[in-house]
Amino acid sequence: MRGPLTCRREGPLRGAVAVPGDKSISHRSLLLGALATGETRVSGILDAEDVRSTRRAVEALGAAVRAEGGELVVTPPEALGEPGDVIDCGNSGTSLRLLAGVLSGAAGLSVLTGDASLRRRPVRRVIDPLRRMGANLSARDGDRLPPLVVRGGPLRGARHVQEVASAQVKGAILLAGLRAEGETTVVEPVRSRDHTERMLLGMGVPVRIDGLAVTVWPARPRGTRVDVPGDISSAAFFLCAAAGLPGSEVTVRNLGVNPTRTGLLDVLAAMGAPARRDAEREVAGELRADVTVRGADLRATEIAGPLIPRLIDELPVLMVLATQARGRTVIRDARELRVKESDRLAAMGQTLAAAGARIELFDDGCAIEGPTRLRGTTVETRLDHRIAMSMAVAQLFAGPAGPVVLDEVGCVATSFPSFFELLDSLTPGGAGREARRP
Ligand code: S3P
Repeated sequence: MRGPLTCRREGPLRGAVAVPGDKSISHRSLLLGALATGETRVSGILDAEDVRSTRRAVEALGAAVRAEGGELVVTPPEALGEPGDVIDCGNSGTSLRLLAGVLSGAAGLSVLTGDASLRRRPVRRVIDPLRRMGANLSARDGDRLPPLVVRGGPLRGARHVQEVASAQVKGAILLAGLRAEGETTVVEPVRSRDHTERMLLGMGVPVRIDGLAVTVWPARPRGTRVDVPGDISSAAFFLCAAAGLPGSEVTVRNLGVNPTRTGLLDVLAAMGAPARRDAEREVAGELRADVTVRGADLRATEIAGPLIPRLIDELPVLMVLATQARGRTVIRDARELRVKESDRLAAMGQTLAAAGARIELFDDGCAIEGPTRLRGTTVETRLDHRIAMSMAVAQLFAGPAGPVVLDEVGCVATSFPSFFELLDSLTPGGAGREARRP
């Protein structure tokens, strides 16, 4: 689906869905599968543009990836080869950052680039630590922006003390550490998502986790089975819509509830919409559950500190939800939102204000006063899937009288191609749905 889209659904949301596989785990299953000895079989992998970018990249490095009986099978090469062309990571910051770590210790020259959004996102955060390990990298605009050029070579372990919590940077360093001489440690200021560590352990790689410090040594992962749970960052749109629409009840089955990712559920509970977790179980090193949220009378809350990395990608839709809560919701310590697929603070600030929200922006967050009956508006989606989906949720809070026009919805395919279809299945009473032309 490409082009503009007018949303005019009507709540409440009711029903049960399974959302597509977790994007972070999907990327890592392909990359670690390409570095492994033996095959890696992945079930439930996310079929969306970002993960396709990683798949094309590992194929360009010599891995074979095939679909077989509902699974994706990754067969690694003996050793990663030099790609014959520039690697296009599309919209995917995770592909580009993690590949920078992988390629630093592999043979040959690689050039990593991406779409207009990715070429505006910072890469010095991976260049600096990887250089300290002896890697040879450079990038446009004084090493600030992609394209990123990596000339692989021998690496040495180092201890990195990070100022910003970033799972992409941590992952890049740990993947480089697998090829480095000696010990490689990353110390985070606050814990970011830990999928890399869990998957490495699941593939037989020794990993030491000591508080906020993670250490690896040279090793080659062993091919394994990966079972990807549903992505809480995708489920967030439905869970937030349900929380804010009286009479709603939505269950998301087989949802990943790794504690480094469940800040959203903590915030919903603080706002008065606690999630129920059923059938909680651990499969292939990752916790999952069936999660149910009901519509509630919401109250404002504060979102800051160590919570932020645990819900970083859910902040745009939480900003939308905050417009429905009584009182002043304050978000702080979220400067990282400014360097995502778009400057999400600026984008959401502007678009929510146009929809009638009372919002004040700070350098590292915002304050939102609610509740507000939102109104229709036209949204510039800025190549940012989460801005598009968040504003489709805002439309539900405006009601069918206030359509929201998304100027370009192609970006939704980045992480969640079936988003509108699943939203329709949860809003059976909603008349009109969307029209292709505004
Ligand atoms: C991701 C980490 C997060 C997140 C991104 C996916 C990952 O970014 O925003 O969507 O898979 O490692 P940072 O690590 O830069 O915070």
